[in-house]
Amino acid sequence: MESRAESFYKKMNKRRTTRHFSSREVSRSLIEAAIKTAGTAPSGAHLQPWTFVAISNQKLRQNIRQAAEEEERKTYSKRMPEAWEEVLKPLGTDAVKEHITDAPWVIVLFRQSKRQRDNGKWGPTYYSQESCGIAAGLFIAAIHNMGLVTLTHTPSPMGFLREILQRPEHEHAMLLMPVGYPAESAKVPNINRKSLNKISNFFE
Ligand SMILES: Cc1cc2nc3c(=O)[nH]c(=O)nc-3n(C[C@H](O)[C@H](O)[C@H](O)COP(=O)(O)O)c2cc1C
Repeated sequence: MESRAESFYKKMNKRRTTRHFSSREVSRSLIEAAIKTAGTAPSGAHLQPWTFVAISNQKLRQNIRQAAEEEERKTYSKRMPEAWEEVLKPLGTDAVKEHITDAPWVIVLFRQSKRQRDNGKWGPTYYSQESCGIAAGLFIAAIHNMGLVTLTHTPSPMGFLREILQRPEHEHAMLLMPVGYPAESAKVPNINRKSLNKISNFFE
């Protein structure tokens, strides 16, 4: 147990968000495996309030990139408060989102805020944010475990994704995740993770 725990931690500690992707193809079966893994997540009242939309179609990825960059240009030039700018600076991000067209797949996670009941009426889902967050974590871990990389991207507001991908009104785009191999020249910011004693508190 101890050694499996340590080796899983070591593997996960090697995961990094990548913003530079190769256009090398990735098979649909790998994407399906990652989505199936995400679908094993626990969820409030077992409602599984998630839809993963996987896009390899180039024209669609171009449309998404264009719309995402439009939002991101507004965010970076007008909407971003100084406190946010301060923490993004070391990551070197900007409004250009070439990963959306470079990576062979883009996966958009939609959160379902309502469900259709057996009696045909609409009812709420429960803890859908938490449930989808956990599913996204499992998806990211699955992608890392297969030796691929992803970027957790939030080009907010993300309403344009519902429109482009023709999803119903009770589905809300939460994350846009390009998936693929890292570009040969890929770089990642030099950042550290908080130590165990900074992220935990034990009562024994
Ligand atoms: C909810 C969420 C939203 C994020 N949004 C963006 C984003 O819009 N653009 C981006 O470049 N990175 C985004 N990131 C990635 C983070 O910047 C990245 O995870 C963080 O810098 C830590 O780096 P690491 O993933 O390599 O450990 C997001 C991550 C999360 C969890």
